[in-house]
Amino acid sequence: MLAVKVPKREAENVRRKLIELGVLAKGYSPKREKDFVLFPVTRPVEGFELAEAEFKKTERRPHSYREVVEVPKELRSLLPSSFDIIGDIAIIELPEELIEYGKAIGEAILKVHRHIKAVFAKGSKVSGEYRVRELIHLAGEKRTETLHRENGIRLKLDVAKVYFSPRLATERMRVFEKVQPGEIIFDMFAGVGPYSILLAKKAKLVFACDINPWAIKYLEENRKLNKTPNVIPILGDVRKVTGQIEADRVIMNLPKFADRFLREAMLSVKSGGIIHYYGFDPEEDLFSEHKRKIKNVAGEFGFKVEFLDERKVRPYAPRQFNIAIDFRVWK
Ligand SMILES: C[S@@+](CC[C@H](N)C(=O)[O-])C[C@H]1O[C@@H](n2cnc3c(N)ncnc32)[C@H](O)[C@@H]1O
Repeated sequence: MLAVKVPKREAENVRRKLIELGVLAKGYSPKREKDFVLFPVTRPVEGFELAEAEFKKTERRPHSYREVVEVPKELRSLLPSSFDIIGDIAIIELPEELIEYGKAIGEAILKVHRHIKAVFAKGSKVSGEYRVRELIHLAGEKRTETLHRENGIRLKLDVAKVYFSPRLATERMRVFEKVQPGEIIFDMFAGVGPYSILLAKKAKLVFACDINPWAIKYLEENRKLNKTPNVIPILGDVRKVTGQIEADRVIMNLPKFADRFLREAMLSVKSGGIIHYYGFDPEEDLFSEHKRKIKNVAGEFGFKVEFLDERKVRPYAPRQFNIAIDFRVWK
């Protein structure tokens, strides 16, 4: 094969130049020969010493675990194309037919994604007051605590003990961009603090409430880890602090039951303040039922509601969406 021969010390510059010229042959490793490096090229290049050499093909690393996993042929189409990554832990949703191949799937994920150290399958839906799910260990370390990086902050959490979804990172950044310096924020269902800690980078004070003691334990750690002493953790039922906080902005990230807490949210926001409301809804009727409930509750108190924005945050289940509605409350 045709090659360009260069002294070792010039190798990196020449490699860049060959790429720029579009002549570096792809799929081969450069060859070292004493003080020289040989690069395979697709045609003669002026100004360089040319030579003939044999090159080894470079091994292409698989991009997906699906390329390396061994499961019966007829089940291959059932292999999920994606999974969640929280810190160094992968969580995959497997159809029943693939459960018995869980170990092989987990090991394939570890092989392809070197930064992942443990793989779990979803063992149930998110349920209960703490909004957690059962996990089935598939491969790697039997560890559920990890450190997740998102939007420039670090979050320590235990995927088996608290709710956390990396799929909400964009939505959290969207809310962050709306926050004005000096705001007082009330994160009613804070979890380990992905909203609270992020928003605290701009806000004056963030009250972060959660009923799950594990969530508050990690929130306390995350507050230190991210140097955000302006986050005030509150352990307990959010109903108990209603009326004690007057916030410029309220976050209601409990999509399954947020409608049950609209009174608490409206009583905790200043006149002219904003509520970020989340819900789940079928594709056919995304926002109207939630907006009707919001208006009804505001009406009970004689408050006025100004709807500011509504959007689909992410698909949640077949034909179901996690939706967000932002509205202002006038008292
Ligand atoms: C869907 S998770 C959201 C957590 C976090 N905001 C996030 O984005 O990861 C809802 C959280 O609300 C908490 N929760 C549920 N009911 C509550 C209540 N009555 N009072 C306070 N927190 C509650 C759960 O423990 C859970 O951590």
